[in-house]
Amino acid sequence: MNTSFKSCMNALNTFKAPPFVMVIFGAAGDLAQKKLLPTLFKLFIKGFLKDFSILGFGLPEMTTEEYKKFVKISLKNFAKEDFSEKEFQKFKNCLFYESADLTDGKKYLNLCEKITKLSKDDDTNNLIYYLAVPPTMFEPIVENLSNRKLCKERKGAKIIVEKPFGKDKKSAHLLNQKLLKAFLENQIYRIDHYLGKETVQNVFFFRFGNALFEPLWNRNFIDHVQITVAEDLGIENRAFFYEQASVVKDIVQNHIMQLIALIAMEPPANFEAESLRNERVKIFKSIQPIDPKKINDYIVMGQYQKGIVNGKHVVGYKQEKNVKKTSKTPTFFAGKFFIDNWRWADVPFYVRTGKRLKKRFTEIAIQFKEPPLRLLGHQCSNLESNMIVFSIYPKQKIELRFNVKFPGMENVPYPVDMLFDYKDVFKVDYPLAYERILIDALKSDITLFARQDGVEAMWNVIDPIMDAFEKKKIIHPYESGSYGPKKADELILKDKRQWRQF
Ligand code: BG6
Repeated sequence: MNTSFKSCMNALNTFKAPPFVMVIFGAAGDLAQKKLLPTLFKLFIKGFLKDFSILGFGLPEMTTEEYKKFVKISLKNFAKEDFSEKEFQKFKNCLFYESADLTDGKKYLNLCEKITKLSKDDDTNNLIYYLAVPPTMFEPIVENLSNRKLCKERKGAKIIVEKPFGKDKKSAHLLNQKLLKAFLENQIYRIDHYLGKETVQNVFFFRFGNALFEPLWNRNFIDHVQITVAEDLGIENRAFFYEQASVVKDIVQNHIMQLIALIAMEPPANFEAESLRNERVKIFKSIQPIDPKKINDYIVMGQYQKGIVNGKHVVGYKQEKNVKKTSKTPTFFAGKFFIDNWRWADVPFYVRTGKRLKKRFTEIAIQFKEPPLRLLGHQCSNLESNMIVFSIYPKQKIELRFNVKFPGMENVPYPVDMLFDYKDVFKVDYPLAYERILIDALKSDITLFARQDGVEAMWNVIDPIMDAFEKKKIIHPYESGSYGPKKADELILKDKRQWRQF
């Protein structure tokens, strides 16, 4: 083990988040139960959280004692193997609860008193409001907090907002305006958990931490980029949310856009949050909006039918609980985007994502152009273009594909891979996306969160697609457990390229 590896490990093991008070709005809801509380508990077990209080604020009538019991059940169900009775006995001392109708301004007086007590009368203390509630609740909550002077008046206050941020550019803009009346931009943490994934962050380090790749990272050498976010899961009791969001607002408008930005961004001036955010926003602004008249040349939407996934029979989307039998909500998206700038002009970015596909699989592949001269004559049929692949799930690895000579008397080229696998090199349990994102918010590091102009620029790309889709609602059915609709293959095949297999 070399010294730099040792010192990085030491830093990881001794890391402590600054003290904080977190108010969870919707503390008994789905998001709090399934994601937020298990993540906080995991960070606590790892020793990252020391001095903190979690104040649940929600509709169900409960005392703090009852809330502790509720959290225990949630952790047993959703933190599963991380649950430990011994650790929970310590964790529960940091849990508090206030039941309230979140729209009732009077209740915020209690909240105000509680916060003052928990933050020890110091308004510079780290105070985090986590909106684990449906977007319709954002406005009354923010208004009530603002009326009690609990927002920008408090130096340590921050608000965490989940995606999707708005349902189109107009609503996102309105929401931004409302948030910005109460908070300063650098107090608003708009989450996209994809940016918290280790492998996703490594795109940045790979590109800008090495001298080798960046000179080739442009339209002169790169043929195209492919991004795949395939899921085997269906919509899992989220019909109400999904019927409004669809795959487009659930995954494309946020996660996929952020992945495109990381691949395409220019090197930032430095490693400061705003410098990185500026470069990501520039990419969102440079993605060419798709001409609605040509939508079918660029976009394919699909919806899953019944089928077999991982050996199990599953129902089609329209048969899912609380989905209308006539629903035309897309659960699959394949698209071709272009980035209108000097680095990327004419390089297609093909993206595809969907629910109930063959398996869960996430990767970004950068395909380079063919060598200019086919020196090896007919043997060249073996040659494959160079490719860099960032595998995000199920493997966490980076691969570089290049051609070598097949051993023997003949002159035959043969494609091989150079591989970096996280598991082999680091052998450590690195933080999951949500853990990293929460820690960053606690540290007041806003780098991995979306900024107002970025969110609105992403909607500029999505709005014309949705408008064109709404007119005709052309949707291609696909069998659950497949690779998506055939039409998606045609989208890329007509450009004489093909999707990578998964
Ligand atoms: C969430 C979506 O943002 O991302 C879910 O709402 C999706 O529908 C999930 O399943 C995928 O995230 P991951 O990290 O499992 O790829």
